[in-house]
Amino acid sequence: MSAPGQDGRAALGPAVARLRAAGVANPERDARLLLAHALGIAPDRLLLHLDAPMPAAAAQTFAAAVAARAQRQPVSQIVGERQFWGRWFSVTRDVLDPRPETETLVAAALEGDFDDVLDLGTGSGAILLSLLAERPDARGLGVDLSEPALAVARGNAVRHALESRATFAISDWFTQVAGRFDLIVSNPPYVAESEMAGLDPETRDWEPMLALTPGGDGLAAYRRIAAGAGGALRPGGRLLLEIGPTQGAQVSELLAGAGFADPVVLRDMDGRPRVVAASLPHR
Ligand SMILES: C[S@@+](CC[C@H](N)C(=O)[O-])C[C@H]1O[C@@H](n2cnc3c(N)ncnc32)[C@H](O)[C@@H]1O
Repeated sequence: MSAPGQDGRAALGPAVARLRAAGVANPERDARLLLAHALGIAPDRLLLHLDAPMPAAAAQTFAAAVAARAQRQPVSQIVGERQFWGRWFSVTRDVLDPRPETETLVAAALEGDFDDVLDLGTGSGAILLSLLAERPDARGLGVDLSEPALAVARGNAVRHALESRATFAISDWFTQVAGRFDLIVSNPPYVAESEMAGLDPETRDWEPMLALTPGGDGLAAYRRIAAGAGGALRPGGRLLLEIGPTQGAQVSELLAGAGFADPVVLRDMDGRPRVVAASLPHR
């Protein structure tokens, strides 16, 4: 597909055709991202390098990257990172690829004050580390049931020089969490079992099952979090949960039933319900 000595522009055409044939949604954009990755340059520098002969190693890397993408592996896993809330986070097959819509939760969290924050199901650490980077005096704990995910989160903490303020621990939701926090955030697995087959191959076949679905109706994690959050928040503390677009009413009801005040559903940039926000009453 791409031969050593061939220039990048010549290599792009067949790569785009291969990705299109594999059903990739935006083959031109992805081929350019993979070519920039293979050349070791930022995507916005690609134009400057397109007409230069490709070194053999870059041609090989590009061929392997296009083959992986044709198998529908997400671009972020192939290039090993993804931008979230303005910073780059390492991404592997062990973590959910942080989504732009999750930035809705980060924006909502930053509307209030907090000295300490608990992130349940931290994955790559993208939510927790973004919050700590924005609040230089805050500290945080990120928990996850996946040890490999926690290794990625710890690496991301070091990448952003946040390791002195971010702690990570293996925990089944609250089981290993001690103390109380000003803020709890979570983007838990929420896809219903019946919806799994309809997901894009990029998600269904390449991201960790544990990150996607708790099985059943998709609400099991919210039930656990609603039951435990009151005991891990200070009076007046806030709870912010990412939700699937149809889950706003059910999750609000779970939180109201657990004693939280006035749950509200917040929308993402596309106008879709994305976060339920609630707070613990001041006794
Ligand atoms: C949807 S992913 C979110 C990852 C990351 N917070 C983000 O927003 O990109 C859900 C995370 O919850 C974790 N998880 C699933 N079940 C869990 C449990 N019982 N206790 C703690 N974490 C769990 C998964 O391993 C995964 O990292």
